[in-house]
Amino acid sequence: MDATTGANTRAGKLTVGDNNWDFPIYEGTIGPSVVDISSLYGKTGLFTYDPGFTSTGSCESKITYIDGDEGILLYRGYPIQQLAEHGDFLETCYLLLYGELPTAAQKADFDYRVTRHSMVHDQMNRFFTGFRRDAHPMAIMVGSVGALSAFYHDSTDISDPHQRMVASIRLIAKTPTLAAMAYKYSIGQPFMYPRNELDYASNFLHMCFAVPCEEYKPNPVLARAMDRIFILHADHEQNASTSTVRLAGSSGANPFACIAAGCACLWGPAHGGANEAALKMLAEIGTPDRIPEYVRRAKDKNDSFRLMGFGHRVYKNYDPRAKLMQQTTHEVLAELGIKDDPLLDVAMELEKVALNDEYFIEKKLYPNIDFYSGITLKAMGFPTSMFTVLFAVARTVGWIAQWKEMIEDPSQRIGRPRQLYTGATRRDYVPMSRRR
Ligand code: SDX
Repeated sequence: MDATTGANTRAGKLTVGDNNWDFPIYEGTIGPSVVDISSLYGKTGLFTYDPGFTSTGSCESKITYIDGDEGILLYRGYPIQQLAEHGDFLETCYLLLYGELPTAAQKADFDYRVTRHSMVHDQMNRFFTGFRRDAHPMAIMVGSVGALSAFYHDSTDISDPHQRMVASIRLIAKTPTLAAMAYKYSIGQPFMYPRNELDYASNFLHMCFAVPCEEYKPNPVLARAMDRIFILHADHEQNASTSTVRLAGSSGANPFACIAAGCACLWGPAHGGANEAALKMLAEIGTPDRIPEYVRRAKDKNDSFRLMGFGHRVYKNYDPRAKLMQQTTHEVLAELGIKDDPLLDVAMELEKVALNDEYFIEKKLYPNIDFYSGITLKAMGFPTSMFTVLFAVARTVGWIAQWKEMIEDPSQRIGRPRQLYTGATRRDYVPMSRRR
């Protein structure tokens, strides 16, 4: 990590009343510079205050860059559009973990290593029988990914680079297996073991949709769409769930447990749960003629309803992933011969109405990746409850790459924010007899 010690530093000044203090400003390779306020409290006795971290850089990173105004997303400098068009998900995983695109030999080795870690310990099956069949699959993911921390004691010495990479490979390889098991358990079908001859996305479709009674051939168009969906969801800078993983990992916690914490955060409807919520919203709207009523509600301050799949903390332009997702939706519907999907009709009309509405224009609210993903996944045969699980499968590589970067950062220390306290000042205990 060199920006905070390199030549690209200039002086910043903070003035409070009659006092002036100097703080260094670091410039990145692209994007906003940062002012290092780590000595602020020591110098001034003041904390910064930034609930939601809208103006706070929590770390230095070389993994993913987002330009919210321009709608740009780069993984290790490569535009998401090019990676989604030319590469596959495991190539993106290699890039995020190692920082460079793999050579053919490196890719073959990486694919081999991931493929041969895709089975889970057979005792993992027993965890599933403890869940109700109607448990939300994300509840099962949080539990089963966390349970991995009870099995792999040979890859949890986080000071050992080899063990960090083994844990990373295991998580990338096993989350699709656990996700497929969660789905099979919810529909009462037997678990399907991974198939080593299949690529990552085809193997996942096989584990979800094959049954022991007959041959299952993954549709190559759907497998390619699944793979692209994984690429689009792989990483996204310091989003809520990635920040959760970094904070959990900053205490030196077990890497499998840190990823389970990421799953828990992603589940929320404001974050990764939005794809499930967006599809439910489209189904509730039902027909294009009901769109004006829902757009009005979304604009009504007294109504908690929001257009799910719209808006983003960083993108104040079109989410580049949403355009690629929309293209994938059309490819999947065409391959499946679905001519007029009512949900797609509502989605496209809703997008048109919202993008021309003064409220959405003024607040720079555009469709995000979750707006179209649900339509695609539903067409592929996944129940709504599985949508966030698929997001978690894809985001595992981003979480673990960011976790590794944090562990390997020599300036890394436990994350411990402070607060603005507005509670009761000191007061003495009141005996029960004197309480009213
Ligand atoms: C993901 O961070 C990431 O990178 C996340 C993610 C990733 O890859 O990791 O990209 C994945 O989580 C995408 C976002 C999925 N969530 C949704 O689609 C849920 C709906 N969107 C909103 O809840 C909201 O837009 C957020 C949570 C995404 C962003 O919230 P912010 O940045 O805190 O913005 P805000 O809530 O302060 O909204 C700003 C204004 C508000 O109005 P005012 O108070 O200024 O008058 O815009 C309004 C909001 O009311 N607004 C919306 C809206 N989103 C924001 N109004 C109607 N519908 C919406 N969807």
